[in-house]
Amino acid sequence: MVANDTRIAILGGKGMLGTDLAGICKQQGFDVKVFDLPEFDITNSQQLKQAVGAAEVIVNCAAYTNVDGAESETDLAYLVNAAAVGRLGDIAKDADKWVLHISTDFIFDGRLNTPYVETDAPNPINEYGKTKLAGEQLLGESGCRHCIIRLEWTYGFAGNNFVTKIIRRAKTDKTLKVVDDQVGSPTATTEVAKVICRLLQKKPESIYHFASAGYVSRYQMAEFIFDKLSIDVNLVPCKTSDFVSDAARPLNSRFDCSKIKNLLDEQIKPWQDPLERFLRQL
Ligand SMILES: NC(=O)c1ccc[n+]([C@@H]2O[C@H](COP(=O)([O-])OP(=O)(O)OC[C@H]3O[C@@H](n4cnc5c(N)ncnc54)[C@H](OP(=O)(O)O)[C@@H]3O)[C@@H](O)[C@H]2O)c1
Repeated sequence: MVANDTRIAILGGKGMLGTDLAGICKQQGFDVKVFDLPEFDITNSQQLKQAVGAAEVIVNCAAYTNVDGAESETDLAYLVNAAAVGRLGDIAKDADKWVLHISTDFIFDGRLNTPYVETDAPNPINEYGKTKLAGEQLLGESGCRHCIIRLEWTYGFAGNNFVTKIIRRAKTDKTLKVVDDQVGSPTATTEVAKVICRLLQKKPESIYHFASAGYVSRYQMAEFIFDKLSIDVNLVPCKTSDFVSDAARPLNSRFDCSKIKNLLDEQIKPWQDPLERFLRQL
């Protein structure tokens, strides 16, 4: 266990997850240093070295997260999500620092018909997923002490996400088509942040899946959101193949979170409560 006054560098600390993580870490007494664009660029080795040197542990939330954009801006996505993560590992190895890196369900193809466990074979079906997988691999090859936490379907106040996008669409469209063949677990970044704080205290060196408990389709998630907000909209279920998008999406994003549940020795809360709380605060 480390004391809560540990100094933590959060790379990408102004993004959707990073913002909530910085806030919750501060509440818990951690000494937080936030690094993000434009002052800090993870692809700049010198700046990366300074960020690693500024803290005892490094949490990497920095990422190129535009899934469709990564199909055309593949080189940039690779530099941020893969090459820079490998360099982070090399620098952390030299400085003997522990790194907590954030990854994604998009490293899987979503074709499995059961929830994914950490040892399932990755097989990304889009460029974003390929760069995120390469980041995991390069971090592993660096030999630094590290932990990877894979997330899915996250939402928070500091970023664009399915919840905010669909509410915005309902303001202009009376009928909304939402896919019912993509299944996962809506997960609040505040819940992720609390789990990361626990990991910061244990500093495990392994890969973990984390998501709120329970599974739902995007269509069912939309139904829940509009029901809770009493928004009258005509929701129509459709298939992923009905939409044209640059990047393919995995249909099955379900995670088996037994491994992290055992490590933290606590139940994971169902997805409904945090989402309801988020909607109340909107
Ligand atoms: N959102 C999801 O559903 C989801 C699901 C699974 C996993 N994840 C993972 O969760 C992590 C956090 O993502 P998020 O959802 O919080 O997305 P986000 O809001 O886009 O956060 C990423 C942050 O990284 C910053 N960034 C981008 N390029 C950078 C660079 N070259 N140097 C330094 N910082 C840079 C971004 O800045 P700008 O905004 O200025 O570009 C942003 O502040 C990522 O690893 C992502 O892959 C997200």
